Amino acid sequence: MKQADLLYTGKAKSVYRTDDPDVYIMKFRDDITAFDGEKKDTLSGKGRYNAEVSTFIFRYLEEHGVKTHYLESIEPGVIAVRNLEMIPLEVIVRNVAAGSIVRKYPFREGEPLDPPVIVIDYKSDAHHDPMLNDDLIYALGLATPEELDQIKAMALTINELLSDYLDLRGITLVDFKMEFGRYNGEIVLGDEISMDSMRLWDKETGTSLDKDVYRYNKGDVMETYADVAKRILSPP
Ligand code: C5P
Repeated sequence: MKQADLLYTGKAKSVYRTDDPDVYIMKFRDDITAFDGEKKDTLSGKGRYNAEVSTFIFRYLEEHGVKTHYLESIEPGVIAVRNLEMIPLEVIVRNVAAGSIVRKYPFREGEPLDPPVIVIDYKSDAHHDPMLNDDLIYALGLATPEELDQIKAMALTINELLSDYLDLRGITLVDFKMEFGRYNGEIVLGDEISMDSMRLWDKETGTSLDKDVYRYNKGDVMETYADVAKRILSPP
């Protein structure tokens, strides 16, 4: 498989076509952004840590029956993925109240959310990722009721698998964001699951172990990402 032209550049990843129309190459860059792109930096090595963790998590999910776009690792920070027809939804599962729902609704930070709360945003920089509801998703033609049911069920399954996995490593999965696509008529997990897209707290100390360290200047981002990657990739 040969890398061909650049298809898409996101805030932290670039996607390339290959000579196989069914396969894309995804490069995790060292760029990091927050607050709708207002805060931006480049942190050497960040892309590799995120690629390593996301790859590990996608393989783990595949082993547990979740269909993902992941195909193989090419080199550090670079993976081959299936070419999905992406659905522009940011599907967020929340186990503990934190971040934007504490700012927007009367939740206390750290309040457990049981059952978990699913929040779905419209992935659109032009519209600043507004929150959707089921009717808006159908009216905008983004997904059918059957697809949305499947997306929500998959999101909850992934949440359970990941929460249990991280809990054994002393990490609380506070919330995380997923993106899905269509492949041969099926809903498949795409994009990444990494320290950029999960909110993780140390179970003992409550310390942030994710992009909040960057967003709110809570410490050394690369030290945190290196430490979390090691914890996630190691046996409990
Ligand atoms: O900012 P908010 O609290 O809504 O974020 C919820 C979760 O979704 C966080 O883990 C955050 O990292 C993730 N997220 C993301 N990409 C976005 C918005 C949120 O990965 N565009």
